[in-house]
Amino acid sequence: MTSPLLKVEGLTKEFAVRGGPPVQAVSGVDLSVAPGEAVGLVGESGCGKTTTGRMLVRLLEPTAGSITFDGRDITHLRGRALRPLRRDIQIVFQDPYGSLNPRHTVGSIVAMPLEVNGIKPPGGTRRRVQELLELVGLNPEHYNRYPHEFSGGQRQRIGIARALALNPRLIVADEPVSALDVSVQAQVVNLLRGLQRDLGLTFVLIAHDLAVVRHFCQRVAVMYLGKVVESGDREDIYAAPRHPYTRALLSAVPELGEGGQGRIRLTGEVPAPTDPPSGCRFRTRCWKAQEICASAEPELVPRGGSRQAVACHFPEPESAHAEGEAAHGAAG
Ligand SMILES: Nc1ncnc2c1ncn2[C@@H]1O[C@H](COP(=O)(O)OP(=O)(O)O)[C@@H](O)[C@H]1O
Ligand code: SF4
Ligand SMILES: [Mg+2]
Repeated sequence: MTSPLLKVEGLTKEFAVRGGPPVQAVSGVDLSVAPGEAVGLVGESGCGKTTTGRMLVRLLEPTAGSITFDGRDITHLRGRALRPLRRDIQIVFQDPYGSLNPRHTVGSIVAMPLEVNGIKPPGGTRRRVQELLELVGLNPEHYNRYPHEFSGGQRQRIGIARALALNPRLIVADEPVSALDVSVQAQVVNLLRGLQRDLGLTFVLIAHDLAVVRHFCQRVAVMYLGKVVESGDREDIYAAPRHPYTRALLSAVPELGEGGQGRIRLTGEVPAPTDPPSGCRFRTRCWKAQEICASAEPELVPRGGSRQAVACHFPEPESAHAEGEAAHGAAG
């Protein structure tokens, strides 16, 4: 097995709030991303996805836990030591309108990372910028235009070109298509897939539903209220979700089918992260909750023989295939 490019253990972020309890935004996330792989981080709004993504790119200082990139502990790097990392790890932001300075031309926006890092590309900055624009499917002649002259999808492409400028190895894309019309979402996702394939890029793709991730990510981690509740290979997660929350998320996207287990409607809101439920954090919305769910926190562990890990005292059965094997094994 190749060693992971990114490894996250027990990653935690608490925000201090004046005159109140701290916000437990991220509470002990484990994540491992192999080189060239795309991992989807999925969960409803408020689950801590953006906070996790910002810690990965070191825009936010973790409260606890560790981040290892290419075998090196980068959790608390500061100042000069962070600089090489700023090249290797890039972020694409959710909002293609707010993340581009409206007073700068597209050319200067995409060139900014080069300038900040004092990099003079061999053929000149303009040529490199035009190359990048072309790479993301924009007209290279448009480098003198301003963000407002572009559509939402095109603006997100500009953000992607900027993220690519320094030849990063890992890109964290925080809901890169959530703000876009459904009709252009697939085009931008296809662009990211192409980049992963052609440039060998590694991705962490953040999304609030399982639809976007489906066609891009080889592995999926589902977050609920600051914790990963289930992770596994795409095929397993979509065919046989084992955590009730994953099942509910899948159910919310009709075209993905129902994992063969009937439709579920998730009611209520994600509880406040200042006062998360005891035991299993999902228990206040879970139709399967028992007493033990309030008293004991379920650990994220592989159950059965698969690579799928689930944090639930009463997980859904394994996929029919795996179940057959397990039954066979038990009998023999
Ligand atoms: N700077 C901050 N100060 C206080 N609370 C914050 C801050 N940033 C995020 N939060 C809270 O942390 C929780 C997780 O937020 P976020 O990571 O943005 O979730 P997501 O991206 O999954 O919607 C939310 O309850 C949010 O209100
Ligand atoms: S541990 Fe209990 S409350 Fe939590 S998801 Fe599983 S069954 Fe539901
Ligand atoms: Mg977010």
